[in-house]
This record gives sequence, structure tokens and C-alpha cells, in this order.
Amino acid sequence: MIRPPRAHRPPAPPPPLAERQPRLPYPNGWFAVAFADELPPGRVLRPRFMGEDLVVYRTRSGVVRAVEPYCPHLGAHLGHGGWVEGEQIVCPFHRFAFDVSGTCVRTGYGTRPPSARLVRREVREVNGAILVWHHAGGAPPDWEVPARSRDGFPAPFRQLSTLVDHPQDIVENAVDIGHIGPVHGYRGVRVRRPFEPRGPSFTLAATGQRVFPLAGPVEIVFDIAVDGLGHIWVDATIPRLRAAAQFQAMATPLDPLRVAIRFSVALRVGGDPAHPRAQLLASRLLTHALGPAFRRDLERDFPIWEHKVYVEQPRLAKGDGPLPAFRRWTEQFYPASPAARARDAAAALSAAR
Ligand code: FES
Ligand SMILES: [Fe+2]
Repeated sequence: MIRPPRAHRPPAPPPPLAERQPRLPYPNGWFAVAFADELPPGRVLRPRFMGEDLVVYRTRSGVVRAVEPYCPHLGAHLGHGGWVEGEQIVCPFHRFAFDVSGTCVRTGYGTRPPSARLVRREVREVNGAILVWHHAGGAPPDWEVPARSRDGFPAPFRQLSTLVDHPQDIVENAVDIGHIGPVHGYRGVRVRRPFEPRGPSFTLAATGQRVFPLAGPVEIVFDIAVDGLGHIWVDATIPRLRAAAQFQAMATPLDPLRVAIRFSVALRVGGDPAHPRAQLLASRLLTHALGPAFRRDLERDFPIWEHKVYVEQPRLAKGDGPLPAFRRWTEQFYPASPAARARDAAAALSAAR
């Protein structure tokens, strides 16, 4: 059974004078606006996305579309009362209808539709999520988030949280090896496979011991694959429990100060392949039992993320993860010069006021 994501809690208020602290602008790339099953055929959602509303809907045949919310007729917001009819979305104000290309194909009066279209945004359905493309310069997507196999894994345990933060901090957490002991209580954390950037993606493998209430210390090997600043995927193996886990974390800026984090975890037990049903049942039970513990692991970062600032030139020490290489990799998601970045961040903040 897929559990509906639970809203975590209201975010902490931004730290005092947060808007005056150095901030990163919205990064380019793919960012999640929903888990895929929150968008069944016929549903219309209106997520916040980087300081504006979007309208995301799925037609009866299953086509997913993301559009800017305002109707080109007289400006009604399609996310407030709009609905799906077959393959069209209908505006609540005068019932003009738009097809999947965004073109107005019908008025509510039965008259000839005007030449008008909705502004479409690039959208993908991948890894159980609905992702929308953002590019500060309006450029179309030039890379994709690869689909990951979920074979043998049950429906994941999931969590939606909203907090004061920026997606880069959340991805940086995956390479910040130094914090995993102090914050998450792992022992003996080390890098097994170095940080390896490849275009908009990178991989890294790390290992450490996690102490579980009944099982005691258990070695976990994490294979981390990151695509842009909005999609983290981790394949983990737990040899002592003969189990594997998949983690997904997707952070999406709601506005210049806040992100929505969609987190999922699923566990799969090893077992007799002749009994796949028993194996799936046991995997479900394990996911149900350990999902909340892994969610709490994630939540241990929250108070730090919510109150930290972005240090452009951190004073690093031996024992830190590969942060300089990570920071160089992130450059591709922002305007080229630091001055242009600062300008973009300031513009987003004043637009949000
Ligand atoms: S404003 Fe949308 S149909 Fe008139
Ligand atoms: Fe962390």
C-alpha cells in the first residue's frame, strides 16, 4: 500500500535577517512538484514552484502536463476551480478548454475559440515523481533524470517536509561525510568510491555503521547517484540483514527561503527467489518497520539546515568530504558570475515579497 505523504510540520521561521545572508538563487534543472500517485487521471494540482504557482494535471488517458496558471482569456487561475475533461483542461471562469498542446480549442459559449494558448512547462514522470524543468534563461532541458529500477522493492515509506533551506544544502549533505557521525550517529564512515562528476550528475559511495534498536550496529553501504540539485537516489545494501534499501530525496524551492523535501525509502529482504510473494511481504514489513527510523535520520539535519547560512568559502579540514569538487560541480546550475548569482538571488527575494 502506498501511504499518502504526511506533512511534516510547519517550517521554522527563517533565521533573523535570513534575507540579508548570502543566498543562492534558484538553480536550473529538474525539481519535483508531486509524487506521481498524487496525480491520478483527472486531477489538477497547483504546487508552488520557485516563487510562483504552477498548474499540473493528468488527462483521462494519463498525459501529464504542467502549465503556468493564468488563463489567456481573462486571467482566471486554472488551479482554483479548473478541471480536466477527457484530454482537456477547462477554465472555471468562462469554460474555455485547452488541449494537451496548450491550445484553446473551445469556448464556453460554443463560439469559435480565440487564437490563444497556455504557457506550458516541461514536465516528466520518473522514479515515482512529477518533475518540472526550471532554467533561469528559459532554455529547454538538455538532460534528463534517469529512471531507476525498483524491481523487487515494495511501495516506499514516504514523507513530505517543508523547511527553510535551499536544495544545494540537501545535496551537499550527501557528500558532507564529516557530519554523518556527529548528526546521524553512524560510526566508521568512509568513502568507498570517490566523488565522480559526470555532466549534471555525480556518484559517490560511502559506508558506515548504523546502530538499530534491536539489531545493534549494522554496516550499510551507500551508493549515491545525484542528478542535478533536485534528485538524490541512494541504493544501499545492508549485508548483515541480507537486505537492500533505496532512498530518494527531492528538494524543490517553494520560494527563495523555503524548500519542499520529498523523501522515500523502501527496503527489500534477500530470500528464496522461489517464493517471491513471501519475500515481498517480508520487504513490506521491513519497510514499514524501518522507514520511520530512516525518516528520523533525515530529520536530524533539519534544525541545522533551517538555521545555517551559505558559506561561499568554507574553511575545510581533513575529514571533510569532497566539498570543493562538489561546489565546482554545482556551478553549472547557476549563472556564470558570482555577481550575476547575487543579482538573481536578490531579484527572487524581492519578487517573493
Ligand atoms: S478567464 Fe478562462 S475562460 Fe475566461
Ligand atoms: Fe545529513
